[in-house]
Amino acid sequence: MRGGRGGSNFAGMSDRREFLGWLGAAAAAGLAWPRSVAALERRLGAGGLLPSAAAAAGVGARSGAAGSFGPGPGDDDFWELVRQEFLIPSDRLYLNVGTLGPQPRVVLDAAVEHMRRVAMTYPPGVDWSGLEQALGALLHAQPAGFAFPRNTTEGMSFVANGLELKAGDEILTTTHEHIGGLCPWQLVAKRHGLTLRELPLPVPPADAGQLVDVFRKAVTRRTRVVSVSHVTFTTGLVMPVRELVDLLRPRGIVVVVDGAHPPGLMPLDLGALDPDFYASSPHKWLLAPQGTGFLWLREEWRTRLWPSVGSGDWDNLKLGAQRFNHLGTLDESRLAGLAAALAFHQAIGPERVHARIRELRRRLAEGLATVPGVTVVSPPDDGLVAGMVAFTTGRVPALELQQRLEKSANMRTRVIGEHGYGWMRLSPHIYNSPAEMDRAVELIRKELA
Ligand SMILES: Cc1ncc(COP(=O)(O)O)c(C=O)c1O
Repeated sequence: MRGGRGGSNFAGMSDRREFLGWLGAAAAAGLAWPRSVAALERRLGAGGLLPSAAAAAGVGARSGAAGSFGPGPGDDDFWELVRQEFLIPSDRLYLNVGTLGPQPRVVLDAAVEHMRRVAMTYPPGVDWSGLEQALGALLHAQPAGFAFPRNTTEGMSFVANGLELKAGDEILTTTHEHIGGLCPWQLVAKRHGLTLRELPLPVPPADAGQLVDVFRKAVTRRTRVVSVSHVTFTTGLVMPVRELVDLLRPRGIVVVVDGAHPPGLMPLDLGALDPDFYASSPHKWLLAPQGTGFLWLREEWRTRLWPSVGSGDWDNLKLGAQRFNHLGTLDESRLAGLAAALAFHQAIGPERVHARIRELRRRLAEGLATVPGVTVVSPPDDGLVAGMVAFTTGRVPALELQQRLEKSANMRTRVIGEHGYGWMRLSPHIYNSPAEMDRAVELIRKELA
């Protein structure tokens, strides 16, 4: 049976042994990448996924939570081993996973392996059901709710185009949305005569309640949809999605979440958040291949939402969310890579990954706050921010600073020029080190002096 009824009470692959079974099945089907994941975990000895590593570490039976034993966020020897799993040149200072995650070797290998087998005319294809289960287990979501568009932009477009909205209906969003979460609404608003209102948010907000109040004050009788980023691309602000659902659902308002960032970045319990739709891009923090997205639909929408692409079975409601996967011939190698990315993430341990990112981000934010001319605009409170630090760049325009850092230090940053903000944004991940955070701060200090 595919999936349970509630989201947070999902009992599918909550036991990691089932995940192992999935890997085992893939290995038995002749695929090489599951063996690479096993070898990786033996090398790391992280105690994340495989019992072999736990046994080697002498910790006995597995605890339920990956990452609850073994190396912590400050164990630099361990993280140096992790860095070696990436193809990033040693002199490259990559601080832009918020745009695109570099794939670890095992992910790249899985995608290439899939492409090679296609060229050889060999099965198997991708185990889509296993993928739904693995994703559901990580994100505490019903596996049957997943569809696999290419990215957040496509997922958000499926939602905007698939809802039945009419002239005069109102959509509320914020002035912190990425074009991928904003333009789908602009398009349908223009085409159907809808009203789209972009609400400013406090930068930074004092607390989550202040953010909920923005919407409480703005909703009208005509509001049909509220569309927000779970984590904004502008500052890394974490929006209080559950509180928004509590406010809006009783009013019959559909809650659409642009969740491009959270998977792989922070703990995510989709069942508990319970939005109507959640679109994401695992090619960011989950380090999956480029062009790997998902859209999660709440149960009622799996049969109600209109597909945007007409293909076989588009109206076969028994297929539920899978109707949105019928998009003609696809490049499934990205999904083979997603499977490996999920295994890589589990092998290191989600909690361990989240903690390391949190530490690096905090070090960066604290360092930047000491640089003359810099004002950090990301929230200072760990509960309100994830993964990213955005800041003003004093007398040097952000674009110029970006070019200088790229040229002088081989450092990749992101400029937030959208909505006229003019900030610089840095986003570290597990392949970065505390020393790189310090180096980035000193490089910026030097450029702004
Ligand atoms: C919040 C947010 N939404 C949507 C997108 C678009 O993602 P994609 O290009 O994968 O569709 C991004 C990309 O940076 C983003 O940060």
